[in-house]
Amino acid sequence: MAIGKRRKALESLAGYRPGKAANQAEIEHGIDNAIKLASNENPWGPVPPVADAIAAAIDGVNRYGDHRATPVREAIAGWLDLDVASISTGCGSSGILQQVMLAYVDPGDEVVFPWPSFEIYNIFCNLFDATQVRVDLRDHGFDLDAVAAAVSDRTKVVFLANPNNPTSTAVSTEALASMLAKISDDVMVVVDEAYREFASPSLGDPIADLLPSHPNVIITRTFSKAYGLAGLRTGYAIAHPEVIEDLDRVLLAFSVNNLAQAGAAAAIEHRALAMERVAELVSERDRMVAALASAGWPVPETHTNFILLPTGDKTDDIYLAMERQGVVTRPFGGLGIRVTISTPEENDRWLAAFLNAVGSGA
Ligand SMILES: Cc1ncc(COP(=O)(O)O)c(C=O)c1O
Repeated sequence: MAIGKRRKALESLAGYRPGKAANQAEIEHGIDNAIKLASNENPWGPVPPVADAIAAAIDGVNRYGDHRATPVREAIAGWLDLDVASISTGCGSSGILQQVMLAYVDPGDEVVFPWPSFEIYNIFCNLFDATQVRVDLRDHGFDLDAVAAAVSDRTKVVFLANPNNPTSTAVSTEALASMLAKISDDVMVVVDEAYREFASPSLGDPIADLLPSHPNVIITRTFSKAYGLAGLRTGYAIAHPEVIEDLDRVLLAFSVNNLAQAGAAAAIEHRALAMERVAELVSERDRMVAALASAGWPVPETHTNFILLPTGDKTDDIYLAMERQGVVTRPFGGLGIRVTISTPEENDRWLAAFLNAVGSGA
């Protein structure tokens, strides 16, 4: 029985699939001590002063927070030396990506993005009845000439996850500038930098390198990954003030909740502590890349807190064999297994599970 007259878009819409929880894998395989490395989360919680600020904010939850999360915007403006009018906040950077769709994409409009990339671009296009134009990756990275060529006069938005999820690769702002020069400046180009803090600084900074000459660029960032605040949901956008006004017009009421605001503001204040942890994760990541290479498994160059194991057609089998050993990762059928970098102990464990799985011919 169908209840209500649901939108056509929902008939084939799969919805967002979160990474599998460790306890779900334990139940499915009758094991215990499973670990989840499936959602590119930070293995550590927020640093202690940030945790304290979040706990203290509980007293205020009987009130709605500041709708625009103004104190967080001001803190970001001070940190990045920007005008506060060029900053917006949202419910995670996913929330901001949805606001971009709400503000710029009508049914039938085209949205261009390299593929495989962040699954949410596909979901939003289906949800908004937009036509998605996928551009194949080349050697796990972006083919920016092909992206520029795919932009037509029906294109409203281009999504570029830089670094890219799930392939971990990244392009420089110089390469992005060349691409931007080839497309109309009424196409909004989103540079989704969810993993920015794990990328090589030599790639450049789109705030300084792109925004001044390209007012159609929207940079999105998040407190979810590097700052260990995925469960609180605060993301932010940096763009031309007119674009920020558009994004704010479609901002869901009180989208960044009180605890999230307290966490984000404290995370900015104590960012040096979070960056020490990022450095540890980057050094663990590089250790794992080297270990994989010496085991005969070179991986795509990673600028993120995850690695793509290039398991190709054997992805599903190897993924399952790892999960049976209590290591929950994220499979991308035909492409590879995405595994999140974690503590040294958990990293040793997933490497052993992976080598065991491939060694057993899974
Ligand atoms: C490329 C990319 N962008 C954005 C996000 C969204 O992160 P959040 O909504 O937690 O800020 C993710 C999360 O995995 C991602 O991989």
